[in-house]
Amino acid sequence: MRKLTNILVTGGAGFIGCNFIRYLLEKAEGFSGRIINLDALTYAGNKMSLEDIEAKYGATIAKRYFFEHGDICDRRLVESLFVKYEIDTVVHFAAESHVDRSILGPEAFVKTNVMGTFTLLDVARNAWKEAVSSKEAAGKPHQNVLFHHVSTDEVYGSLGETGYFTENTPYDPRSPYSASKAASDHLAMAYNHTYGLPVTLSNCSNNYGPYQFPEKLIPLMILNMLEGKPLPVYGDGKNIRDWLFVEEHNSAVWTIMRNGVSGETYNIGGENEWENLKLLNVLIDIVCAKAKLDPAKVRGTITYVKDRPGHDRRYAIDCSKLKRELNWKQNVNFEEGLSRTVDWYLANPQWIESIRSGEYQKWVEKNYGERG
Ligand code: NAD
Ligand code: DAU
Repeated sequence: MRKLTNILVTGGAGFIGCNFIRYLLEKAEGFSGRIINLDALTYAGNKMSLEDIEAKYGATIAKRYFFEHGDICDRRLVESLFVKYEIDTVVHFAAESHVDRSILGPEAFVKTNVMGTFTLLDVARNAWKEAVSSKEAAGKPHQNVLFHHVSTDEVYGSLGETGYFTENTPYDPRSPYSASKAASDHLAMAYNHTYGLPVTLSNCSNNYGPYQFPEKLIPLMILNMLEGKPLPVYGDGKNIRDWLFVEEHNSAVWTIMRNGVSGETYNIGGENEWENLKLLNVLIDIVCAKAKLDPAKVRGTITYVKDRPGHDRRYAIDCSKLKRELNWKQNVNFEEGLSRTVDWYLANPQWIESIRSGEYQKWVEKNYGERG
């Protein structure tokens, strides 16, 4: 098992990153080190998501949480952080993450997802010279430096009615987002293969849970229901996604970071496929029961809108390698995860207000108008 001490978390003010930091400091087994959160605070980053963590772990004498505001493409900054904090581990979440935005404006995706990942890998290679030698590092499971690259199942393309993505499925990205993530995955694995940088890679399915920006399906639908706005369904609503509670993704990432083999890819998934429209109907029942709304009335606000260009039909993950080789298992089923998610949005109006009043909302209004 690796001993990981000074962990640079990129994108820790975003949805999955902030949940990861919370998980590591409050729940995970085997971590007593420090977390350095590097985040550019784009529209998708929100410092409020970690206010309590900052107060608890960032303001004591034995500080364990540090926030650094900056861009992963800024090489000098990244180099200085490796020295300042003696970084031995990178877990790389920072990205432009929304498919619709990548269709409207792909440039930021190439910059952050490709160039940003390259910058981090290259700085790590230089900083960890002793650990980086193709003979010693490639394929070894338990070195004490590690670059864990967080990626998506979308790199594998789109499935028909049957079959699953495995770690051996050929890459076939179809949106600017997934193409930029595929490029970053290839760079990460090339740094392992060529230079011996200890790298692990995970490709995960759709996450949901607290702190997710309401540009993504589940939080968008929850908030629109609560605000009496239309519920926009793309195309025929029959596209299929595999849903995983965010804490389960993070427990898998931590498992891989501690025990995964350098040079290996691990698929992470919920084994929980849903057509969008069926999922929406379940969500309507949960939200209406908790918020005392009339489900029939809310169902009446479902609105079919123009489909996403190039909309991938179905994603489904085979995560048997992760379960078999690293003993990972899920603990939260979909019903419980959705219920906890809805509870969280109902209990956190200040968080919602904080993003509704910022850059995020301006962009939404400009690009989506009334839809919200
Ligand atoms: P998010 O959009 O909620 O958060 C991204 C974070 O990265 C934000 O805090 C943002 O400020 C930060 N960031 C963006 N550009 C940056 C830059 N140049 N420098 C520093 N920080 C920057 O994303 P998320 O949903 O939390 O996704 C995190 C990672 O997980 C991404 O790499 C994404 O591809 C991957 N992923 C997401 C899902 C999902 O369902 N959300 C599923 C599988 C994989
Ligand atoms: O599969 C992993 C990926 O999941 C991650 O890599 C991405 O970062 C993450 O955003 C997510 O991508 P999707 O495009 O699958 O997620 P999104 O929530 O945008 O859409 C989920 C499905 O719901 C998709 O089929 C499109 C549909 N949809 C989405 C929105 C926002 C709608 O029908 N209406 C909507 O308003």
